[in-house]
Amino acid sequence: MNDRTGEYKAYIEQYLKDWYGRFSSEPQSKLFEAMEYSLQAGGKRLRPVFAFEFCRMCGADWKKAAPFAAAIEMIHTYSLIHDDLPCMDNDDYRRGRLTNHKVYGEAMAILAGDALLTDAFAVASTAGIVDAIAVLAECAGSLGMVGGQVLDIMSEERLLTEQEVIDIQTRKTGALINAACVTGAMAGGASEEQVAAAGRFAGALGLAFQIRDDMLDVIGNAQELGKAVGVDEGKNTFVRLYGLGKCEELVDKYTNIAIEALAVFEDTDYMISLAQSLTSRTV
Ligand code: IPE
Ligand code: IPE
Ligand code: MG
Ligand code: MG
Ligand code: MG
Repeated sequence: MNDRTGEYKAYIEQYLKDWYGRFSSEPQSKLFEAMEYSLQAGGKRLRPVFAFEFCRMCGADWKKAAPFAAAIEMIHTYSLIHDDLPCMDNDDYRRGRLTNHKVYGEAMAILAGDALLTDAFAVASTAGIVDAIAVLAECAGSLGMVGGQVLDIMSEERLLTEQEVIDIQTRKTGALINAACVTGAMAGGASEEQVAAAGRFAGALGLAFQIRDDMLDVIGNAQELGKAVGVDEGKNTFVRLYGLGKCEELVDKYTNIAIEALAVFEDTDYMISLAQSLTSRTV
């Protein structure tokens, strides 16, 4: 399993380097420096891995999903840069280094995020699949990740119901995971049934992933995670709602629901073990 993950990670990192390498003589070099600072800072590259693997599970060459894998990693990275800003979560560390605004200042961090978001659509468009670009836009925008971030900040200091927390997590984290799985499948020529199943997998896996993220804020190690822990105190997380023990059960429950959705794909062993390994991730 680690070989395949490593191959996907290496490929997407080189792909992103090559994309931006072409602009080295542009005068706005500071902008590119700020973008690459966050983009090349490591990170699990989980969304690209999902995009590649869903493409492969549809029987296609996984590299066909590269424009979407890159675009989603760019959008994800922009979402992290903005999420860390003083007006949002006000965090100092991300991916093992100082946050973007700590190094480049708030104005440049906002603009680096803006540029990553916009450039992502240029990268995605090279695949020439309009329907998949529409999925990407919907998942990233007001109906998806940005909508979820808004619900997240609006909900601070108020106790939410389970459904309200699910509504937030589905958007702020689930939507980009959905984009990765669905556009990867579309790049692989998925049937309608497979596109729907990729969406079901992502919906459940996204919840499991964010519940684990909330758990790691309590039980995780900042050094290992590359970001601060103990910062979610005033937030409506699943941990606040249910406590750690129940959260562990919920991560398993949603992971199993995700795995059930894989039945319509070929050769799912890798994806099943990847999903299972995420339930006990420490990073
Ligand atoms: C962090 O995402 C933000 C959430 C949506 C929970 P990841 O845990 O995938 O962060 P990286 O990409 O590995 O840094
Ligand atoms: C962030 O959720 C989700 C995004 C859209 C960036 P969190 O605020 O919990 O992510 P971390 O814990 O800072 O990575
Ligand atoms: Mg946040
Ligand atoms: Mg945050
Ligand atoms: Mg978090």
